[in-house]
Amino acid sequence: SALQEFDLIFFGGTGDLAMRKLLPALYNRFRDSQHTQGWRIIGVARQDLSREQYLNLVSENCRQFIPGGDFDERAWTAFTAHLEYLRLDGTQPEGYAELARRLQNSNDRVRVFYLSTAASLFAQICTNLAANQLVTPQTRVVLEKPLGRDRASSYEINEAVAKIFEERQIYRIDHYLGKETVQNLIALRFGNAIFEPLWRRSNVQDVQITLSETVGVEGRGDYYDRYGALRDMVQNHLLQLLCILAMEPPSSIDPDAVRDEKLKVLRALRPITLDCIKAKTVRGQYRAGAIDGAAVRGYLEEADIPPDSHTETFVAIKAELDNWRWSGVPFYLRTGKRMQERMAEIVVNFRPVPHAILPTSASEGNRLVIRLQPDEEVRLYLMVKVPGAEMKVRPVDLNLDFKQEFKTRQWDAYERLLMDVILGKLTLFMRRDELDAAWRWIDPIRDGWDALGEPPKSYAAGTWGPTASNTLITRDGNTWREDGYQ
Ligand code: BG6
Repeated sequence: SALQEFDLIFFGGTGDLAMRKLLPALYNRFRDSQHTQGWRIIGVARQDLSREQYLNLVSENCRQFIPGGDFDERAWTAFTAHLEYLRLDGTQPEGYAELARRLQNSNDRVRVFYLSTAASLFAQICTNLAANQLVTPQTRVVLEKPLGRDRASSYEINEAVAKIFEERQIYRIDHYLGKETVQNLIALRFGNAIFEPLWRRSNVQDVQITLSETVGVEGRGDYYDRYGALRDMVQNHLLQLLCILAMEPPSSIDPDAVRDEKLKVLRALRPITLDCIKAKTVRGQYRAGAIDGAAVRGYLEEADIPPDSHTETFVAIKAELDNWRWSGVPFYLRTGKRMQERMAEIVVNFRPVPHAILPTSASEGNRLVIRLQPDEEVRLYLMVKVPGAEMKVRPVDLNLDFKQEFKTRQWDAYERLLMDVILGKLTLFMRRDELDAAWRWIDPIRDGWDALGEPPKSYAAGTWGPTASNTLITRDGNTWREDGYQ
């Protein structure tokens, strides 16, 4: 359906995210004619560029991030007609008058300020917006991660933003929640009755969530080294997936109904204290190795990384939820850069049959795999008989391949989330208390590692991480999915 009129103002308008994700996402929605007229995008950045120079920069950059078949020269030209540029240093009060001038006749429209700058600038930008009367009732603000480095700094950022914006106007984005398969996990759980009775400790043996990447730090060394995998991936994406998987059925899909349930999951996470940090967490750092046969350098040799850095590029955690549904079920979380495969998947391992009368390996139970990347699939592994004289069974999957089933182009996560912001749908955005609860669980892990003072375990680029990651799970009698049946 066509959207209402809007103005979207990107702080960080020349940045990597705008070029790689945000502008291509808006172009795609435009090309598919979701937004037709009465809208405007204003890229805001410090660089001294004319509108023409900005459009050239955007065109050069975005082209490579729009898959070949989707790039249409005419649509692109029509799209860029809606693009403007404004030179502005967000932290300085000057310059906002010009922004106010450009927006003066559109106070009734939906207005979105998308802040994809360092979070340390959010407070000043918000203050400047308010001082120039730019925050109308129809205004929304989108906050990109990382929202802080720990609970205290996240509190400060949220506090500053809350002085200017009401919670209903604040969209804390986690792009994993916009991914199609995450939506499908919600559909699977709450659109089918058959899973619900199985979705609990009596039937589930363990859950694994893996977000592995083959890329390294890709020119973001300076940022990455200050954050590391725990803050970059676990605090947000991994915990959000865990929430969607483990939450109780919400009473509706309304933002607060869903977010209340997610919050309960975060609050049920058992704290990882110093005495169990070694048994429940593994941190790793990649050394030189090979990805798809090509040699790659180690983390410490990457640009902008101090040669003695202890920043982790891999984390594995055994998380546990102290509640009735999940008590005793381990949730193994794992993420890393420069790993063997790029993939994002959730694996639910069901318990094996209570008494085996057919020859099969005792450890084999049913398995549900929800794959977000690289392909979007849901697979349910069932035990079937191997053809032949003997009564032997082995797992075979029922595979729901979305590309095959629905021949339409999959939306990028940012397409959905940006449209949700414009439409005022908060369900897929994090509420302040959720963020706080996530940091509350993450901080002690960080502190524990600091107290131990051990360097991260080394792993060769192109592998599944340090061997300790296997020990973490085999100790419980479980195995990572790639070591079991495929
Ligand atoms: C970002 C992290 O949030 O997510 C990056 O900062 C990471 O380090 C990226 O590469 C992964 O996202 P995706 O969608 O490519 O899996």
